[in-house]
Amino acid sequence: MLPDRNLFYFKLITMETTTVQPQVSTAAQTDFLPLHGTDYVEFYVGNAKQAAHFYKTAFGFQSLAYSGPETGVKDRVSYAIRQNKLTFVLTTPLKTDNPIADHIYKHGDGVKVLALKVDDATSAYAETTKRGARSYMEPTRLRDEHGEVVLSGIHTYGDTVHIFVERTHYTGPFMPGFREWKSEYNPAPTGLLYVDHCVGNVGWNQMNPWVKFYEDVMGFRNILSFDDNDISTEYSALMSKVMSNGNGYVKFPINEPAEGKKKSQVEEYLDFYNGEGVQHVAIATNDIVSTVTQLRDRGVEFLRVPSTYYDDLLDRVGKIDEDLEPLKELGILVDRDNEGYLLQLFSKPVEDRPTLFFEIIQRKGAKSFGKGNFKALFEALEREQDARGNL
Ligand code: FE2
Repeated sequence: MLPDRNLFYFKLITMETTTVQPQVSTAAQTDFLPLHGTDYVEFYVGNAKQAAHFYKTAFGFQSLAYSGPETGVKDRVSYAIRQNKLTFVLTTPLKTDNPIADHIYKHGDGVKVLALKVDDATSAYAETTKRGARSYMEPTRLRDEHGEVVLSGIHTYGDTVHIFVERTHYTGPFMPGFREWKSEYNPAPTGLLYVDHCVGNVGWNQMNPWVKFYEDVMGFRNILSFDDNDISTEYSALMSKVMSNGNGYVKFPINEPAEGKKKSQVEEYLDFYNGEGVQHVAIATNDIVSTVTQLRDRGVEFLRVPSTYYDDLLDRVGKIDEDLEPLKELGILVDRDNEGYLLQLFSKPVEDRPTLFFEIIQRKGAKSFGKGNFKALFEALEREQDARGNL
């Protein structure tokens, strides 16, 4: 027998009336929250029109769909853009008296939604809320001539939320409320494929409570942990635990600041984001040299490690397929674990506040996160932090 709290209903966005009976998940014994990866990442930004242009121009996203007053959405405008399996939604409020405006006032531009692809958004909501998740959106059915999408949502750290997206019966460009966005301006893609992982920065002593949240509420496992001995430089430190869902398609490392001689990079983020939030989105590529060359040519700025990093690189990581010279020229980092190696590079923050940035990652067997690069990387980050007067 389901408890009353699971007897929720669908809000109807269109005129059609449909009754949906709550169902007991048959997957409860195995994975109570089966996820098929990231559906989209939604950013609340001060000017979505310009942000969409930036991501198309600099990162090679393609125009996908538009939502706004012309499509019946009165309080906001959203642009959906796509590159392979990577979908970003850029949303801006149209009036000041609006929770999206409050979000931007508090945090600046940043990630609001990490949306996850599910077969059953109703079950995802039931299973997570009964395990203690705070509701953000009850299961909501959206319909248009292309079919239906069911959304539901829960809160996670800070003002960030997870939306569960069920789109098995939908053939439109993105989702109801959006129309296809055809543009005359279509910069070439850069080889970005999908979200590899999304990292959250949380407050002092908040890492373990959020690890427990992902374990208890979403059925994730802690697959890797880094303490402040792993992740510290002369000055600053952080701790991190990587949470993964059952099939490994969704990975959320959680960082918290640790005590060091000077201010942790996580603390700087918390100060400027004015709370907990997404620190970086890591995007996979199959050819990091090509991708990073194009991103750099289009104006994306990356952190640089000193060229001495490459002096003993091959001694540290062993034989790799790539030529060393282009890696050195582009500042690409390499690390090896038991299963293989990975190549990665981190952008500078993509807004004026030192908050959200991107990682470009190419995995060649390795399932880890570049622990061997942390020290060189964080020293590079601290040089930036110092230049801002925040170290
Ligand atoms: Fe990362």
